[in-house]
Amino acid sequence: MIRHTFSNLVLLWSITHGFYGPGGIHHASKNQSWNNQNLSSVPLDLDVRLRRLDLSDNFITQLHAFALPCLEELDLSGNQMDLISEAAFGNLARLEHLNLSRNRLSVSLGSNSKALRSLGGLRSLDISMNGLSNGAAELLLRNKSSLDQLNMTGNVLIKLSPSLFGESRSIRSLIIEDNLISEIAPQTFEPLSRLESLNLARNNLAFICDFTLHQVKYLNLSRNSVEFFVTPEDAVLYSLEVLDLSHNKLLYFPVLPKMNRLKYLHLQNNLLGALDSEAVMVTEVNSLYQDVVNETTLQKNYFHANWRLMPLVYIDLSFNRFASFPLETLSLLNSLETLNFSHNCLQNINWDVRNYSDPRQVRQIIFHSLKHLDLQGNGLTHLPLLFLKALTQIETLNLQDNSLQPCGMLSGSLPKDRIDFDHFCTAFGQLKTLKHLNLGENNIKILPPNAFQGTSLVSLNLAKNLHMLIHEMALEAVQTTLQSLIISGININSSGLSLPCMPALTEINISNNKLNATPSSLGCSPLKVIDVRNNDFMTINYSLVEVVSTNLTTVYISGNHFNCCDSRWLTVLNDMRIELPDISQAECFTQERNLTMSEYLKSPLFYCSFERDGQGVHFGGMVITLLFVTVFSLVLIFFGRKLCCTPGSSVV
Ligand SMILES: *[C@@H]1O[C@H](CO)[C@@H](O)[C@H](O)[C@H]1NC(C)=O
Ligand SMILES: *[C@@H]1O[C@H](CO)[C@@H](O)[C@H](O)[C@H]1NC(C)=O
Ligand SMILES: *[C@@H]1O[C@H](CO)[C@@H](O)[C@H](O)[C@H]1NC(C)=O
Ligand SMILES: *[C@@H]1O[C@H](CO)[C@@H](O)[C@H](O)[C@H]1NC(C)=O
Ligand SMILES: *[C@@H]1O[C@H](CO)[C@@H](O)[C@H](O)[C@H]1NC(C)=O
Ligand SMILES: *[C@@H]1O[C@H](CO)[C@@H](O)[C@H](O)[C@H]1NC(C)=O
Ligand SMILES: *[C@@H]1O[C@H](CO)[C@@H](O)[C@H](O)[C@H]1NC(C)=O
Ligand SMILES: *[C@@H]1O[C@H](CO)[C@@H](O)[C@H](O)[C@H]1NC(C)=O
Ligand SMILES: *[C@@H]1O[C@H](CO)[C@@H](O)[C@H](O)[C@H]1NC(C)=O
Ligand SMILES: *[C@@H]1O[C@H](CO)[C@@H](O)[C@H](O)[C@H]1NC(C)=O
Ligand SMILES: *[C@@H]1O[C@H](CO)[C@@H](O)[C@H](O)[C@H]1NC(C)=O
Ligand SMILES: *[C@@H]1O[C@H](CO)[C@@H](O)[C@H](O)[C@H]1NC(C)=O
Repeated sequence: MIRHTFSNLVLLWSITHGFYGPGGIHHASKNQSWNNQNLSSVPLDLDVRLRRLDLSDNFITQLHAFALPCLEELDLSGNQMDLISEAAFGNLARLEHLNLSRNRLSVSLGSNSKALRSLGGLRSLDISMNGLSNGAAELLLRNKSSLDQLNMTGNVLIKLSPSLFGESRSIRSLIIEDNLISEIAPQTFEPLSRLESLNLARNNLAFICDFTLHQVKYLNLSRNSVEFFVTPEDAVLYSLEVLDLSHNKLLYFPVLPKMNRLKYLHLQNNLLGALDSEAVMVTEVNSLYQDVVNETTLQKNYFHANWRLMPLVYIDLSFNRFASFPLETLSLLNSLETLNFSHNCLQNINWDVRNYSDPRQVRQIIFHSLKHLDLQGNGLTHLPLLFLKALTQIETLNLQDNSLQPCGMLSGSLPKDRIDFDHFCTAFGQLKTLKHLNLGENNIKILPPNAFQGTSLVSLNLAKNLHMLIHEMALEAVQTTLQSLIISGININSSGLSLPCMPALTEINISNNKLNATPSSLGCSPLKVIDVRNNDFMTINYSLVEVVSTNLTTVYISGNHFNCCDSRWLTVLNDMRIELPDISQAECFTQERNLTMSEYLKSPLFYCSFERDGQGVHFGGMVITLLFVTVFSLVLIFFGRKLCCTPGSSVV
């Protein structure tokens, strides 16, 4: 009776909850995933109400008709499908999203293309990685008037022509990365009036000499072999907002549409600047334009005239060949906020600026909106005053890995050989708006007094200036604004480091030095993060820890030689649940041994409690002695009793 009820319950449960195979999900769900289940064919008896079916990463080679009238999304990517029978999709009337990526659609092309042709309602189609040639792709794209997104990455297309998209004119997003495209016939994309996003990265395009896609907002031509990019002038507003021409062979700046909405321009990893000077470059760009559009009556400086109108906010020119800074060209970009000029070959910034009215007067150029400037990895030895004065809005300046020396008010007491740079130093005090400055790896010899006076620096990175002397007044004037200070890897010892009271400082990194004591002034700061890795610390000032502990969240301590038995600081940090991310790598020593600090923390008393300055008995030793004595007495007592109480014993 009971058993009967039970089996009825089980039956009821399985009816209400449904029970499918390995990929089976809840009965009420309209999704089903059979991803990576070693299937060699589409499972039978699929729920006819399914809306989404994932059969990706299996071993399905052939697809025959199956009926799922509600199915909207089908993922067959990562199979080995070479034959889709002509009628396979006939009963998938509502299918909108089909993923056929990573199959072998080029094999039985006749049948495959007929099958796909019946899917007139598709909105997204992924046929990437299928070995498709131009002709094959064209066949698969028949009857696709609703298609919105198409991915053809990783095929073998060579030439794009209008016939390819003749029956898929509503495409909005088109990805054809990583093919062999070296030619785009005229009028290929023009009929795609809704096209917004076009990705042709990783192909073989050598030039673009007639860019006319007014409708496109995003264009990616990264990693081709593009040598130049030219837009013939017209009076139409282009929608272009993002243009990626990185990793190409550009010798010249691109000639962009006269009227555009371009905000992000990626030109990194090209050959820009390889020509001598800015003036030469501008002339060359203009004559190139003239050649390409076969224009004889050209206005004087077409390139600059257009450049001036661009609403660009971001330009990446890193990893190019600039030996001189294109001051005028870049200053024409009135909205430019971020300029990445890292990893070029600048050694100087010469003020080669054309003098307009009065040829005897130096013209001050201004970068009106520039907030973030990255000049790392150039060979700069000096930034001239005119350049600093041009940066009226600058907030972030990255000068890592150059050879700049900051100016300051040097006092006569400094050693003579350290003042020889006096005339070649950089006057950072000019940058009134500057907040974040990276001067790491500049081989700075000395940080002179008041080096940053005039700025309101929030963060300062001075890392890896091996052998830098820091004058005790160096941070004067920014001591109240500094929140983050990095003085890592400058080989400084504690007698060489004296810092002012910095009441805003929340992060300090003094790692990789020879310090054995923290600067006493740190007690002034509401520190949250302290990094003292790889120094000569034996202990950390307990009273400092106590003072700053209210705000402290994280301390990095590994790579020091701490005394386990002088580690009240550690107990406090540990008790306050301050994060010590590298404690398992941190070591400390006792008289007997070295151990990791996490090991020590497990039983501090065991290692240290009786050790007082090397005198007295070691606690561990004492425990062992005590144990030994106890066990010995117990054994004695036991045997004693045995001897006394054994019946018949007469020996006493
Ligand atoms: C089915 O999948 C779609 C898209 O992946 C998701 O938005 C939806 O929440 C899923 N439904 C259920 C019931 O899991
Ligand atoms: C698929 O086959 C492989 C190799 O035979 C096996 O290791 C794996 O467990 C199988 N996966 C499933 C879900 O059956
Ligand atoms: C198709 O599936 C692949 C994984 O196999 C995935 O990378 C790709 O994004 C999918 N395509 C679409 C349009 O979702
Ligand atoms: C094109 O797709 C529609 C469904 O949207 C279908 O009715 C029609 O038969 C298809 N045309 C061809 C030639 O297969
Ligand atoms: C396009 O196809 C490639 C290769 O299969 C894939 O990695 C990428 O995620 C796809 N892109 C989209 C947007 O689905
Ligand atoms: C352009 O495509 C490349 C290659 O896929 C990619 O790395 C890059 O992020 C894309 N650029 C933009 C701006 O999206
Ligand atoms: C360039 O224009 C001139 C006349 O303006 C014409 O004679 C010549 O054929 C054109 N060249 C090309 C390549 O179109
Ligand atoms: C500039 O480019 C370099 C190299 O790609 C990169 O590391 C750095 O983060 C970029 N700087 C900015 C401000 O984007
Ligand atoms: C502009 O005038 C200054 C001052 O006379 C001069 O040093 C500089 O060489 C001139 N620049 C050019 C490009 O003529
Ligand atoms: C600290 O460094 C300075 C400068 O390198 C050196 O003169 C001094 O002897 C060092 N002090 C100690 C205690 O090592
Ligand atoms: C430091 O902690 C104190 C007390 O909790 C708090 O008032 C102060 O705002 C904190 N300072 C910072 C910079 O977070
Ligand atoms: C502890 O480590 C230090 C430095 O690594 C080493 O000089 C010392 O000999 C070690 N002491 C013991 C007892 O292993």
